[in-house]
Amino acid sequence: MTTPSTRPARPDLRQPFCGFGLGLRPTHYRDFQAAAQPVDWLEVISENYMVQGGKPLAMLDTVRDRYPVVMHGVSMSLGSVGELDGDYLARLKALARRIDPLWISDHLCWTGVHGVNLHDLFPLPYTGEAVRHVASRIRRVQDTLERRIVIENVSSYLSYADSAMPEWEFITAISEEADCLLLLDVNNIHVSSVNHGFDARAFIDGVPGHRVQQIHLAGHSDMGDHLIDTHDEPIADAVFDLYGYACRRLGAVSTMIERDEDIPPLAVLVDELDRVRAVARRNLGEAGRFPPRPSLEATA
Ligand SMILES: [Fe+2]
Repeated sequence: MTTPSTRPARPDLRQPFCGFGLGLRPTHYRDFQAAAQPVDWLEVISENYMVQGGKPLAMLDTVRDRYPVVMHGVSMSLGSVGELDGDYLARLKALARRIDPLWISDHLCWTGVHGVNLHDLFPLPYTGEAVRHVASRIRRVQDTLERRIVIENVSSYLSYADSAMPEWEFITAISEEADCLLLLDVNNIHVSSVNHGFDARAFIDGVPGHRVQQIHLAGHSDMGDHLIDTHDEPIADAVFDLYGYACRRLGAVSTMIERDEDIPPLAVLVDELDRVRAVARRNLGEAGRFPPRPSLEATA
């Protein structure tokens, strides 16, 4: 059996480490317009800017002049059985042409059926058939966008009787068959590990580190007998611990905080991001493994 330490070295497919970022939310537009903020990069929700003109797009143009940006989508529905939405992909590509993101991500899930968007991120059965199906869809998306995309593990609250492998084997098989990159949401790993009773560290050990382009951190709600991925709280201590483990296992990975409900003033999130930096620094070891962030010129 191959363990993480005995795996043969593989070419690192990741882009260089970019530092520590935040999700751009309208609540903080004014802060980002008024002054440069101590964040290395910003993640934007693609669908919010896939329009012709308007204030949000003008704001994004301003932000893009100051920060490297990555695009994160919620509607690609890579796990669906219907046709891929060609119009959606065309608009996504047009936005990418406009803002030149470092990378484009979406979720490993399905979001609707028969043309109806259910506005939630539903998990998939972990089967070989689903691996082949999703990987072929990712390949088609990558052909259209002319770049590797980055796919994120979702949190889940149910499992399928047909599942034949752990989630991390499913994600690994898809990433290798599709030749795509991974966004590890460490909070989602923790939430799902508690809900389903698996070892969260085994998840991190099980994914191909040379494909992990980005990490998400977020807060969740403890409902007593299960956790819900609510993004309305600070990052929990258990998630910081798991993030430290991910740093030791994966090295320096571009990391950001997602906050979508009960959004505090920007200064609060900047402080939380400082804690993220400190955890990464402590777990990455020597300073040499913590490269400086790229300059804006290098990403323009
Ligand atoms: Fe996430």
